[in-house]
Amino acid sequence: MTDHLKIIRHGAVLEITFARPEKKNALSNAMYRAATGQLNAAEKDTSVRVLLFSAEGDAFTAGNDIADFAAVASGKGEPPQAHAFIDALARAEKPIVAAVPGLAVGVGTTMLLHCDLVYLSDTAKLTTPFVNLALVPEAASSLLLPARIGHLRAFAMFALGEALSAAEALTLGLANKVLPKDALLDAAREAAQALATRPLGSLVATKKLMRDANRILAQIANEGAIFKERLQTPEAREAFAAFAERRQPDFSKFAS
Ligand code: COA
Repeated sequence: MTDHLKIIRHGAVLEITFARPEKKNALSNAMYRAATGQLNAAEKDTSVRVLLFSAEGDAFTAGNDIADFAAVASGKGEPPQAHAFIDALARAEKPIVAAVPGLAVGVGTTMLLHCDLVYLSDTAKLTTPFVNLALVPEAASSLLLPARIGHLRAFAMFALGEALSAAEALTLGLANKVLPKDALLDAAREAAQALATRPLGSLVATKKLMRDANRILAQIANEGAIFKERLQTPEAREAFAAFAERRQPDFSKFAS
């Protein structure tokens, strides 16, 4: 277990809170492992009907801990645990609500594509700068994001690191509501409690009908294989070193 993930039960709603605000809630392997365990247990626990993701501080999450990526790139670290988390999210049959208080980077944004109700604070910003890190999209976002917002906007997010404001995300169908930050969690909790009063069998069947889970899982596997290769490249090592050294990366010395 880790202190950086808080778990609270409100009746039939299981709330999972990213709690590492000093690192903008960057997701460490320990946090992924704990979150994956919670997701898998919740699927089996008949007393849990709805999941709610939220976060402490001013960010939802700055994405995967780049120090963990850097450790893999240098051949030292354990394999990233993000894949198991994403897999569990994609397999989740119960409804998932997200309350996003601020910046969501990388998996912070792509995990929202697997949520069923997404509430953003008006200060939220969504980014997926995978190419800036010499990586590729994950969590089936290479399939799901263009399907939601079109190829051109999705490519600009992946390849140029362009951000979407909360208002843009709402317009583009990536969020249900935009709220002032101090009203966000209450609104998301209220929605989660409302879902918990609905017939679970019907909710699960509806969610299943709305998603092509096999196609999504196949895309996650394809992306995962390429992502793993990319983590070992000199380009990725340069990107991670640049982040640690607080400088811009220089990819000009690498050929494709
Ligand atoms: N992994 C590890 N540490 C991270 C992190 C990440 N993804 N994102 C932020 N942090 C850490 C910073 O290193 C810093 O740690 P320090 O105080 O020990 O130096 C702390 O969190 C605060 O971040 P900082 O960069 O000082 O805050 P900021 O408000 O200037 O910028 C971000 C916030 C999120 C824009 C910036 O930290 C960032 O770009 N992070 C990387 C995001 C990313 O590329 N994620 C991977 C996507 S696949």
